[in-house]
Amino acid sequence: MKNDNTIRNVSIIGTGSYLPERVLTNADLEKMVDTTDEWIYTRTGIRERRIAREDQPVSDMAKEASKKALSNANIRPDEVGMIVVATTTPDMMLPNTACLVQDLIGAKNAFCLDVSAACAGFLYGLEVAHTFIASGNIDTALVIGSDKMSCITDWQDRSTCVLFGDGAGAAVLQARDGTRGIMRTLLGSNGSLADLLKIPAGGSRKTASVQTVKDRSHYIKMEGREVFKHAVTCMTNAAQQILDHCGLTIQDVNCIIPHQANARIIKAIGQQINAPLETFYINVEKYGNTSAASIIVAMDEASQDHRIKTGDLVLLVGFGGGFSWGASLIEWCR
Ligand SMILES: CC(C)(COP(=O)(O)OP(=O)(O)OC[C@H]1O[C@@H](n2cnc3c(N)ncnc32)[C@H](O)[C@@H]1OP(=O)(O)O)[C@@H](O)C(=O)NCCC(=O)NCCS
Repeated sequence: MKNDNTIRNVSIIGTGSYLPERVLTNADLEKMVDTTDEWIYTRTGIRERRIAREDQPVSDMAKEASKKALSNANIRPDEVGMIVVATTTPDMMLPNTACLVQDLIGAKNAFCLDVSAACAGFLYGLEVAHTFIASGNIDTALVIGSDKMSCITDWQDRSTCVLFGDGAGAAVLQARDGTRGIMRTLLGSNGSLADLLKIPAGGSRKTASVQTVKDRSHYIKMEGREVFKHAVTCMTNAAQQILDHCGLTIQDVNCIIPHQANARIIKAIGQQINAPLETFYINVEKYGNTSAASIIVAMDEASQDHRIKTGDLVLLVGFGGGFSWGASLIEWCR
C-alpha cells in the first residue's frame, strides 16, 4: 500500500473462467417451447448455452473461476485486498455473494462487496476495483462476474429463454509499473428505461407471495426489440467516446471484447464504429448471454487462445438492464 497522492497504473494480471458442464442446445429448446434452431441462430447467433446444477449457486461458479484466475496470476488468496462480485443472481439477498466467495477461496484479508449493474456489471466492478488500487487503498483485487441466469429465466417464455446461459469469470487486478494497464473506463446509466428489462417481483417493491409465483413475476421480462436498439446505440456511443477520450481511433484497437448478448447486436456495433467483424472476439454461439460473466469469460478465452497478447489494446464494451453500460480500454500485459 502506498502513502502519497499519486495515481498508480493498474493491470489485469490473471484471468479465469468456469462454465457448467451441462449443455442446453437449441434442439433441446425446440422440445421445451415453440421455437427452432434456425430462428434462434439467425436472430441471435446462439447455438447452445450452459446450465448450472440446481444445487450450484453463483458463489460456487465464482469460486471455480477465481481459483483459476489467482493461479493464472500467481497470487495467493491471502494477498487479495478486495473482492467485487458483479451479479444479478446472488446466492441470497443477505449476505452479499462476495463474502461467500471470500470464505470459499480463503481470501481472509479482503473486504467484499457486490455490484448490481446487470450485464454491464463486470465493467462496473472493474472500475470500482481499479479506483481502489489506483488510489493506493489496496494493492490487489479480485473482480468476478458470475450469473446463474437459468434461475431467473422463464422456461415457458420463448422470447427470453433462448437467450441466456450460466457461467462465471474472474480477473486479478494489481498495481503495475511499466504498462498502462486499465487506461480508462467510462460508465453510464439511464434509469428512465428500467421497465424495458426487469424482474418485477422478489424485491421490496413487490415482495414474494403465492400470487407473484403464480404470475411468474420472478422471471426476466424484456421488451426485446427496444432493448436491442438501445444496446446498439449505447455500446456504439460508449466505444466511440472512450476512443475519443484517449485520442485513439478504432484502427489502434487490436481486439474488441463486447458483451455477448446477440451476434446481431455485435455486428451492428461493428458497422457503426467501422470495425471489421474479425476485430471482435465472439463466443455467444457457445454460451448465450451469461450476463455479468459474459465479458470476462470472453476475455479469459481470448487470452487463452492468444487472441490478445502483451501490448495489445483491448476495448471492452457492455450493456445491460438499468439501463447500464460502459467501455474500458486496456493495454493487455499478460
Ligand atoms: C429477443 C430478440 C432475439 C427477438 O428478435 P426480434 O427480431 O426482435 O424478434 P421479435 O421480438 O420482433 O419477434 C418476431 C417474431 O418472432 C416470434 N418469436 C419470439 N421468440 C421466438 C422464438 N424463440 N422462436 C420463434 N419465434 C419467436 C415473436 O413472437 C414474433 O412473432 P410475431 O411476429 O408473430 O409476433 C431480439 O429482439 C433481441 O436480441 N433483443 C435484445 C435482447 C438482449 O440481448 N437482451 C439482453 C441485453 S443485455
